[in-house]
Amino acid sequence: MKIYVYGTGCGAGDLADEALPPERIKAFVERAGGASFLGRPVIALEELAGRDFDLLIVACRDAEGVERDCLRLGLPGEKLLFLKNHVRPVDRNRSYDTARAVLGDAFVERLIGSERLIRVPLWTEKERIAGEGSDNDYVRVKTLEAICLRLAGVPGAAAELGVYRGGFARRINELLPERTLYLFDSFEGFDPAESAGEGRGFAEAHKNTGVGEVLAALPHPGRAVIRQGLFPATAAGLERERFALVSLDADLEESTLAGLRFFLPRMSAGGYVLLHDWNNPKLPGVKRALERFETERGRLAAVPLCDVNGTLVIAC
Ligand SMILES: C[S@@+](CC[C@H](N)C(=O)[O-])C[C@H]1O[C@@H](n2cnc3c(N)ncnc32)[C@H](O)[C@@H]1O
Repeated sequence: MKIYVYGTGCGAGDLADEALPPERIKAFVERAGGASFLGRPVIALEELAGRDFDLLIVACRDAEGVERDCLRLGLPGEKLLFLKNHVRPVDRNRSYDTARAVLGDAFVERLIGSERLIRVPLWTEKERIAGEGSDNDYVRVKTLEAICLRLAGVPGAAAELGVYRGGFARRINELLPERTLYLFDSFEGFDPAESAGEGRGFAEAHKNTGVGEVLAALPHPGRAVIRQGLFPATAAGLERERFALVSLDADLEESTLAGLRFFLPRMSAGGYVLLHDWNNPKLPGVKRALERFETERGRLAAVPLCDVNGTLVIAC
């Protein structure tokens, strides 16, 4: 079977880790081809249009855009399978038959199951809740907006540990245009030692970013202070800084714990820390990091969100 995967980000990485080993993928596809991902070639969509294939799994969020481009190039719509389909109220997939044969029933059931039930009531066609290419997590985004309103009068900078392509950082920067925004990331993926036990697709997908790309995504890039490299070494010199809002999104246990240890003592009264993935079964290290931190420093005042990846909002 000739299977192609559109996208070289987290969706494609998770797919490779969970259901489709890279050896079974002919090539990854992007708008512009080039280089490789998980040892497989990356070709341009135009190139795929000239090939015979059985299934194109669309593993990125821009379902409409990719579908539009595919149909314009004459690719058969029934051979497309949208993995991130669950962020839309209407199922764009025409059939799951090939998907079941290729990816297995369990994976497909998850694909068409619970996530859509959570999101559909929150999504309307009229209001693009988070826009294409961003997180599409209504609860996370709207909670950030509400929190930023509460920050009036609370002194301190904003920061994010774990920026990746800047999807969430862009929103913080937009909502808090007057505040310095520290951005901590290697911008080359996880510490290889720390991510050694994770899936190869997960690790490789997070390399797909860069400082230039993130700055270009920010509405107020002049407010951003890039701290590139591995945290916590990149926090050196900021010991006297104070923070009003921190997004902790490092995914893994030791880096998350390092973030809690650095930021919590430096939070202004009235500030908030958003601990992403606290209730995400795929990333159990985040919860362990919080447990270790609370054992060290005592229990925190915190509210769990029912957003997509289980953020914990810590009130300081
Ligand atoms: C899930 S991504 C962040 C996603 C982003 N917050 C968003 O919502 O769009 C996790 C990021 O954490 C970064 N990261 C994890 N541990 C790190 C560390 N110790 N130092 C620097 N960056 C780290 C990785 O490079 C990766 O880009």
